[in-house]
Amino acid sequence: MKSFFGVDYYPEHWPIEMMDSDMDRLVDLGVEVVRIGEFAWHIMEKREGEYDFSFFDMVIEKLKKRGIKVIFGTPTATPPAWLINKYPEILQRDENLMPRSFGGRRMYCYNNEVYREYTRKIVTKLAEHYKNEDSIIAWQIDNEFGHEGSDICFCDTCKEGFRKFLKDKYEEIENLNKTWGTVFWSQTYNSFDEIPLPLKTITHHNPSMQLDYRRFMSKSINEYAKLQVDILREVLGNNAVITTNIAGGYFDKNFDHKEMVKHMDFASYDNYPVWGGLKEPITPANIAMDLDFIRGLKRKNFWIVEELMGAQGHTIIGYLPRPNQAKMWAYQAVAHGAQSILFFRYRTATFGTEEFCLGIIDQDNREGRKYKEVKEFFSDVKKYKDLLQSPIKSEIAFLYDYDNIWAWKIQPQSTAFNFKEEMLKIYTAFYKYNTHIDVIDAKDDFSEYKVVVLPVMMIVDENLKNKLEEFTKKGGIVVLTYRTSIKDRNNNLYLGKTMPCNLNQLTGIEVEEIESLQEGQFAYADGKYGRTKCCVMREMINSKGAEVIYTYEDKFYKNKACITVNKFGEGKVYYIGSSVDSDVLSSLAKEIIMEKSIEHFETPFGVEVYSRYYGDKKYLFIMNHTEEEHDVLGIKLMPYDSRIIEVK
Ligand code: GLA
Ligand code: ZN
Repeated sequence: MKSFFGVDYYPEHWPIEMMDSDMDRLVDLGVEVVRIGEFAWHIMEKREGEYDFSFFDMVIEKLKKRGIKVIFGTPTATPPAWLINKYPEILQRDENLMPRSFGGRRMYCYNNEVYREYTRKIVTKLAEHYKNEDSIIAWQIDNEFGHEGSDICFCDTCKEGFRKFLKDKYEEIENLNKTWGTVFWSQTYNSFDEIPLPLKTITHHNPSMQLDYRRFMSKSINEYAKLQVDILREVLGNNAVITTNIAGGYFDKNFDHKEMVKHMDFASYDNYPVWGGLKEPITPANIAMDLDFIRGLKRKNFWIVEELMGAQGHTIIGYLPRPNQAKMWAYQAVAHGAQSILFFRYRTATFGTEEFCLGIIDQDNREGRKYKEVKEFFSDVKKYKDLLQSPIKSEIAFLYDYDNIWAWKIQPQSTAFNFKEEMLKIYTAFYKYNTHIDVIDAKDDFSEYKVVVLPVMMIVDENLKNKLEEFTKKGGIVVLTYRTSIKDRNNNLYLGKTMPCNLNQLTGIEVEEIESLQEGQFAYADGKYGRTKCCVMREMINSKGAEVIYTYEDKFYKNKACITVNKFGEGKVYYIGSSVDSDVLSSLAKEIIMEKSIEHFETPFGVEVYSRYYGDKKYLFIMNHTEEEHDVLGIKLMPYDSRIIEVK
């Protein structure tokens, strides 16, 4: 797939008289592609069955005259009022069984057959109408599936769907009772039709049931997306280039994102380093990890179909990106594998929910700082299109598993626990040395890497255990953390096994006891790289052969290990039994990077260097994430400066 640069354009939001001058300005800005249509169902079908694509025909004609390509969005994120009023059962139900009212977006139930039928109709009509329109270079399915709390529904359709999902999975009710352990609190079911939705109850629902409900939601959302993929492939055949835009907060959603994009041509992301009431942007490492996660979904470069330029917010406006800061984030994104970028949005809407999701041009309709930054960015990065399409090779992989993430959501065990923050803490330790890192599903093949890191991987099944042993035997380095391998795939604890269950040989340790540490609570440990705080949770570890590099300090636990490293075959396994300080994690990361001779760069805090290769040429992307000046690699960087340099 080639690289294209552009903006998100909503021609339906402006007086028609502005269209030609707007499009001329798109050309001036350096726009090669616009995304249109994703929220325009009513324009295409004002009343049931009255399909009219003439507005977008005109828009596409005018764009074509200017050589501008199109990404067309299927408009299912915003069903029209006439449809919802005719079939109110389409609306999702929240956990109080209240319908989610018309007036927002994505308030439909993914399992509702009526909505699936109307989806089939509008997407088929749309695809048939533009079947031979070659200026449409890609199709975006819906918009940010599952975002803004739309990733869970408790309606009757979902209740029946869940019971069928369980029947298909367990076949006999006894199997479900056994697997879930429903004998606990006398919850044994005599039939699948007795099984409730995980609505509000006294204390909490069965952990296995809750995990299965998230799996059912994931299946529902992914099936709904696949329904649209299939229609586009059927109608458009080989012309179909399909993606969907993934929103931030991907670890907080009830659907497996890798499964979502499996049948699509590439993944797309909406990159907002700051949004809503955030006082400051997320950290540079956090932005990088998000990008690496998206790249890991299909193990290849991806697109950004929404890159922030202006401050954003629905009711609360977020942080104002400083001069060149948003541009710098765009450089960081292309460095990490975004081979095309569209900025959100051409001009700030002057009505509707998103008046304060500021665009490149604001309500004054003048070309200001943001316009200049986008223009500069486009004219610079277009010079490197071949490089941007080159694959990124990493030697370090961070592994995640959605069952595991959902299991932590169901039982966080400490008030201080947050899955993404725990992953980010260790990721940052390696990011600090400007290494390449892939963030991939633990079910993927990771045999090619030198180092794999599995943050808080509670659920470890036989398959993963075998892969880890094989990987380490051959010389790989594995990094595990607290609460590793305590549960099976059904979200139940392993019986009669010492933690980390089934991995005692691999790790050379046994966990004797654990302690949950709440917000603001911590213990201390001391060792190889100096004293560290221990937060969130800690494990009292006995070595069974592993080298102890950190022990706790406090009264009863002086002789208990906190961090260990174990030789296994040609490789090593680090076990970090608590959430320790970042600088200790960085020292461990440096130790591993040096031992495995992994490419890295020492840079001042807040300056990122990312290498990319094209043929025999090497390039460095340099991003200054700070408002200070820095000298790096002999280059004077201004605040929020970004450079692409070829290494001769
Ligand atoms: C998201 C959505 C867009 C818009 C922007 C606002 O990413 O996809 O439709 O809501 O955020 O920032
Ligand atoms: Zn539903």
